Amino acid sequence: MKFDGKIVLVTGGASGIGKATVLAFARAGATVICADVNAAKSEELKKEVTGTNFNVDFAAIDMGDSDSIRAAAAEVLKKYPRIDILVNGAGWGDIQPYIQNSPDFINRVIAIDLAGPAHLTQALLPPMIAANGGKIINIASDAGRVGSGGETVYVGAKGGLIAFTKSLAREVARYSINVNCVCPGPTDTPMLATRSDKLREAFLKAIPFRRFAKPEEIADAVLFFASPQADYVTGQVMSVSGGLTFAG
Ligand SMILES: NC(=O)c1ccc[n+]([C@@H]2O[C@H](COP(=O)([O-])OP(=O)(O)OC[C@H]3O[C@@H](n4cnc5c(N)ncnc54)[C@H](O)[C@@H]3O)[C@@H](O)[C@H]2O)c1
Repeated sequence: MKFDGKIVLVTGGASGIGKATVLAFARAGATVICADVNAAKSEELKKEVTGTNFNVDFAAIDMGDSDSIRAAAAEVLKKYPRIDILVNGAGWGDIQPYIQNSPDFINRVIAIDLAGPAHLTQALLPPMIAANGGKIINIASDAGRVGSGGETVYVGAKGGLIAFTKSLAREVARYSINVNCVCPGPTDTPMLATRSDKLREAFLKAIPFRRFAKPEEIADAVLFFASPQADYVTGQVMSVSGGLTFAG
């Protein structure tokens, strides 16, 4: 797949799935903006791409803070005429019984995993609409389709992101903008590494392929939705989960 001349923004681009997505788009010729809250990881990626022919730019953004999102989007649109492909990849959560979740925890999870993509997408839409085209890909989770104990608010936010995808797809189809959603299953990233050995072993037993996804395999699905091959595909949810969740 070639994305020469395309401008792509990936939130959560400094680690895991987001990083694999940034590198895949850069390899395919796009200009990619890695938008992340983690300055140290962004700096690491900057070093990794220095000296390559990859065109990677960086933006500081806190997806849990609407002011930060609006300011970062305005900065990006000063520098670039528009974002052609937006990947809402940043996500955050923790495993804890719902009954123990603090009010701040609940607010933060919903802010990062659901409200953040809603703010950023809205801020970046006007030039996409003016150009009569664009691709938006949201990274939710299979947990948002089938549930996952100990992650109830995260799952609620990811389920909301799936519904947001479908509804926005209806609203912007008239501008030839595609909105789709990738639902990873357990994927070998720093986020998964924070989960207990017991949980990771349980996942491995339940996944028909008996292995975690590689971040690059999730990026492949994102690139498909962003490609001209998916021009007639919108409002769809693709699970990339090694067969963990067929139904639901
Ligand atoms: N790894 C999995 O098993 C898995 C499964 C299903 C869904 N997901 C989803 O995939 C996406 C990527 O996850 P990952 O496993 O690569 O995680 P990761 O922790 O490796 O990377 C997430 C990135 O998002 C960034 N981020 C977190 N909070 C942010 C904020 N407030 N503002 C801006 N950036 C922020 C982090 O700095 C990090 O660079 C997330 O949306 C996650 O919910 C992951």
